Amino acid sequence: MTKILIATEKPFAKVAVDGIREVSEAAGLEVVLLEKYTEKSQLLAAVADVDAIIIRSDKIDNEVFDAAKNLKIVVRAGAGYDNVDLAAATAHNVVVMNTPGQNSNAVAELVFGMLVFAVRNFYNGKAGTELKGKKLGILAYGNVGRCVARIAKGFDMDIYAYDAFCPAAAIEADGVKAVSSQDELFETCEVISLHIPATAETRQSINYDLVNKLPHGAVLVNTARKEVINEPELLKLMQERADLRYVTDIMPDMDADFRTLEGRYFSTPKKMGAQTAEANINAGVAAARQIVAFFKEGCTRYQVNK
Ligand code: 3PG
Repeated sequence: MTKILIATEKPFAKVAVDGIREVSEAAGLEVVLLEKYTEKSQLLAAVADVDAIIIRSDKIDNEVFDAAKNLKIVVRAGAGYDNVDLAAATAHNVVVMNTPGQNSNAVAELVFGMLVFAVRNFYNGKAGTELKGKKLGILAYGNVGRCVARIAKGFDMDIYAYDAFCPAAAIEADGVKAVSSQDELFETCEVISLHIPATAETRQSINYDLVNKLPHGAVLVNTARKEVINEPELLKLMQERADLRYVTDIMPDMDADFRTLEGRYFSTPKKMGAQTAEANINAGVAAARQIVAFFKEGCTRYQVNK
């Protein structure tokens, strides 16, 4: 029987696992579960006889592909697939997919949860500021960026976006002002929300010079990836500029150093953006459906390692 492994170091909500089982078992596929694993050896053992794997931010590298002799497909239940070695997947003849858009709303809602927390001085009792009328810059106008723009309208923010790949007309069609560069976005906006993927081009791209373009009192929100931040440079800048604040749901490697910036930095202990029951159900069940369609119909929609 075709076997699907759900391998999640950070587990889905139970309702999502139930949904994955329902969809898979209805199509005659078996589901096995590896949650909250702490050692890579547990993952290597679990993949030995499976045909498919559903993951979140779990790292799937060459060693995992070597250990998974029957593997045909990996679906990252979520958007970013920088945790999967795509070249190794292709070399092992394994299809890799993501489930774009399925967890975007959850991430976008957390952006505003973190933003309100930051501009109200982390609820320390001192008078904070409001989001209404503030200039919000969305860096990368993909599924999450669009959800952020939608919610920002409810806050009556002045919304700007930059995306190297999305035409300005598509951004403007949403009532969002398209700017022509990343630099211009940072020069213009008091709040920046990052939604770029971690790629060779974006790694460490949020650096001293770029962030220093922000106006006085700005807030940087990162629910994208920690790899896009040049941590030593951001830390140095925040030490020099006592007006800047940084909130993130991806704990930096230099978390202890950032914590010295009292009242200007916050990180959740785990990546929390997509951690809602709804996002887990949407992304998990989409992953299961894509796996069923792959085995039953040969469907490779959403394949990312072509
Ligand atoms: C994504 O890329 O989909 C998000 O960053 C969510 O990641 P997670 O599934 O590990 O929470």
